[in-house]
Amino acid sequence: MTVRESAIVVGGGIIGCSIAYELTKRGFAVTLLDKGGLNEEASTAAAGMLGAHVEIHHDGPFYELCKESQRMYRPWTEELYELTGISPQYTPEGIVRAALTEDDELELRGRLPWIGCSWLSADEIRALEPALSPNVRGGLYFESDHQIHPLHLARSLQAALQLSGCRVMPWMPALGVIRENGRVCGVRCPQGPLYADRVIVTAGAWGGELLEGAGLKLPLFPVKGQCFAVRPASLPIRKTAFTQGCYIIPRQDGTLTIGATQLEVGFDKQPTAAGIAAVYAKAEALLPCVKEAAFLKTWAGLRPGTPDGLPYIGGVAGAPGLIVATGHYRNGILLAPVTAKLIGQLASGETPSTDLAPYTPERVHAAQA
Ligand code: GLY
Repeated sequence: MTVRESAIVVGGGIIGCSIAYELTKRGFAVTLLDKGGLNEEASTAAAGMLGAHVEIHHDGPFYELCKESQRMYRPWTEELYELTGISPQYTPEGIVRAALTEDDELELRGRLPWIGCSWLSADEIRALEPALSPNVRGGLYFESDHQIHPLHLARSLQAALQLSGCRVMPWMPALGVIRENGRVCGVRCPQGPLYADRVIVTAGAWGGELLEGAGLKLPLFPVKGQCFAVRPASLPIRKTAFTQGCYIIPRQDGTLTIGATQLEVGFDKQPTAAGIAAVYAKAEALLPCVKEAAFLKTWAGLRPGTPDGLPYIGGVAGAPGLIVATGHYRNGILLAPVTAKLIGQLASGETPSTDLAPYTPERVHAAQA
């Protein structure tokens, strides 16, 4: 009889659930732990834009990684839907990235040499979305930056985990990693130790402490995003409208999701009047008719930030058995399928199909040295 390899995934956000699903498909016996319920933090506060073009401001390997994950999304969500009957609401409408200020226009024009689309005049932008403000100066249209609905993706992934036999343990904090004979081989939990061949830490902004216990001092900090939702009489836009500091996403249920602040205020995720007002002002400047929509609700999430804005994806020298996949900042939803694929390859002892050097957790120590 072949013995199945086992893995513990710490962190039940979209990244952790996607990795657990991938490892289960690869034949691992997987246990997924979270200190709370699954997908209760950044993953479901997220907007769900698959913004490989809109969110990335420089050419390079990270842009390529984002585009790879974007290409994986449709088949990945179709697979989840087929398995679970729960649709992640993949919506193939692009993002109109409109400039309202000279500075923003300059920043967007600076992307033209590598972004793969051309500058659109104000008239061309408003031909795409006529309800946008006449003050729009022009902008870019990212046709392949589609969207999913994070709540539906979370429900679909959770159902997929159940159907594929993953052991899911919510409300089970990992207090520390266990090392034996130089290898990380499990985690300490309040109910006792849990052992596995691999331990994968995906705990977002909360992962730093656990990793520090494993000898890895990775800077990870929460970046608060505050959002709100409104219900207009009818949807004024088909595509997501995005300007500096604000996006407006039309949902299949007839609502608009509007976000988001970007604040480093610790682990506070209470929406504030000032935060919502600041986002609202930008939303109204971009899409004036938003002021007539019925107000529904506010919420906030904590993105896991890193000093260089790149995620930590990879193994850890000096801690065999331990793998890190966290710090996805504004791009956790987008990067879920490609991160799961890469961690699946690493955990299985394969050479990752993407060079992980830019994302290695070791880069922090290299920078400190
Ligand atoms: N990716 C959208 C956000 O982080 O607000």
